[in-house]
Amino acid sequence: TKPLAIGVAGLGTVGTGVLALLRDNAETVAARAGRPIAVTAVSSRDRTKDRGVSLSGLRWYEDATALAADPNVDVVVETIGGTEGPAADLVRAALSAGKPVVTANKALLAVHGAEIARLADRKNVPLMFEAAVAGGIPAIKAVREGLAANDLSRVLGILNGTCNYILTQMRERGREFAEALSEAQKLGYAEADPTFDVDGIDAAHKLAILAALAFGRPVDFASVHVEGIRSVSALDIKLAEELGYRIKLLGIARRTDGGIETRVHPCMVPVSHPIARVDGVFNAVVAEGDFCGRVVLEGRGAGGGPTASAICADLIDIARNRRTPVWGVADGALSALPSIPMEKR
Ligand code: NDP
Ligand code: HSE
Repeated sequence: TKPLAIGVAGLGTVGTGVLALLRDNAETVAARAGRPIAVTAVSSRDRTKDRGVSLSGLRWYEDATALAADPNVDVVVETIGGTEGPAADLVRAALSAGKPVVTANKALLAVHGAEIARLADRKNVPLMFEAAVAGGIPAIKAVREGLAANDLSRVLGILNGTCNYILTQMRERGREFAEALSEAQKLGYAEADPTFDVDGIDAAHKLAILAALAFGRPVDFASVHVEGIRSVSALDIKLAEELGYRIKLLGIARRTDGGIETRVHPCMVPVSHPIARVDGVFNAVVAEGDFCGRVVLEGRGAGGGPTASAICADLIDIARNRRTPVWGVADGALSALPSIPMEKR
């Protein structure tokens, strides 16, 4: 069978993770996809860097948007990052050319998602982004499909692995904030600009995407209340512990009479709550629905392996031509769920 040919733009933590997974799990992936999935072309800034994965035999482009025009690329995987510039140009170019896109770029989706999803819809091309929220946790699928029959009242969670890693290191090891952040960067968890992590912006990007899916309506990113973890001190963590709480950076979206409330800030979580003990790079996503009750998902929220796992699951769906009602857009939301007027909820 003809392999599904993939072009990967961005060969950092996530992009090389995708290459490694498709190399190591080639048989499993082919069996689940119904045909092999093979990377045929890549793009990065530096052609000569050793990335720990073989690039031999792959076409390399300096200009990432060239992947969209390559006739031997069926699907584009975007793992560059950023709301503007090469990542945004490539995603738009690929969709315009009728090529499915898989992206891990939550910043792009939170800011331009409605417009990009509309483009995908108009072109009738899949736009997949499981990797954009909570790394290896299939949070998008769970909220959008698994819980689709529910009226959700709340989605919340630990949505940034870097912050959770830092807070855990400060609590368990007495590490300084800066030292723990530097470790998270070395482990490949942090954003290229780590202020996105520690100032809560990355968690807010993810929350905006989750909330749009959960409530079937667009979320104006500018309306999300955002507060990071810079002001959390070792003493705060210690005092919270003594009172039976853990400090976690949470993203919370809930339905209120006045609309959808979205906020990201450090919270005191009682140790008895299931997410209080979600530590290190792990994330948690909690959804509360009228029929399902509370659903809690936990897993690694950052890093090459977990994120590649989510990207490759999207690639398998594309190979299978699984057009679940997942990739379209309703009233500008990143969702094919109908947008139900608030008064009817
Ligand atoms: P990295 O910084 O590790 O990698 C970025 C890659 O993009 C590099 O290989 C870089 O090339 C390449 N790049 C930068 N500019 C260009 C350009 N103009 N043309 C082509 N390639 C370019 O980032 P990550 O892998 O960590 O993150 C990538 C994306 O995935 C981001 O959107 C991020 O938010 C998201 N993400 C990251 C996760 C993680 O755990 N790290 C988890 C989930 C999502 P070069 O190497 O040559 O400099
Ligand atoms: N920087 C992000 C985090 C990567 O730490 O959670 C995963 O999206």
